[in-house]
Amino acid sequence: MQFTVAIDGPAAAGKGTIGRAIAARFGFAHLDTGALYRAVGAKGGDPVLAAQSLSAADLARPDLRTLAAGQAASRVAAIPEVRAALLDFQRRFARAEGGAVLDGRDIGTVICPDAEVKIYVTASPEVRAHRRWLEVGGDPALVLAEVKERDARDMNRTDAPLKPAADAVILDTSALGIDAAVARAVALVEARL
Ligand code: DC
Repeated sequence: MQFTVAIDGPAAAGKGTIGRAIAARFGFAHLDTGALYRAVGAKGGDPVLAAQSLSAADLARPDLRTLAAGQAASRVAAIPEVRAALLDFQRRFARAEGGAVLDGRDIGTVICPDAEVKIYVTASPEVRAHRRWLEVGGDPALVLAEVKERDARDMNRTDAPLKPAADAVILDTSALGIDAAVARAVALVEARL
């Protein structure tokens, strides 16, 4: 069976948590596509070469979740050749036998326009910054500024900007607990299976 769940949205909206929960619930494979861009940004050197030669070891680096890695990822993600180098891997993952969940920024719009389920997970910048701050600590005002800067870059780039697909279901988690958000996402998948 081929079945793709595309989850997009801005930083710290809850995409990863929802994606992992859906994958566990239905036995689907899960790909955090942000990790690909984080690994490219963290590798240094020419980002296009880094994307073309990405390895499992690059994806296992322990420093991929830092604020700096997020910013570097967002910068290299604006380079069309970087996105092109990562496209086939993501598409193959999405259509692998047994079902797949991918979370990112352009899954429903560019990588898998024919995904069976598309969810756009969002929340206010303040709520998202608070969640990110719980993860990384530091100065809360700086974390909020980082979230807003990354939103602006990801939404305004020319190639595959962050936006909901026309047929995506919008899931606003600003005032929704994680269990309720996962329950809604599970219901969307069940309805389509
Ligand atoms: O989801 P994340 O915070 O790990 O993503 C890090 C950055 O990678 C994000 O700011 C933009 C980029 N990205 C992207 O352009 N396309 C994706 N499908 C996933 C992430």
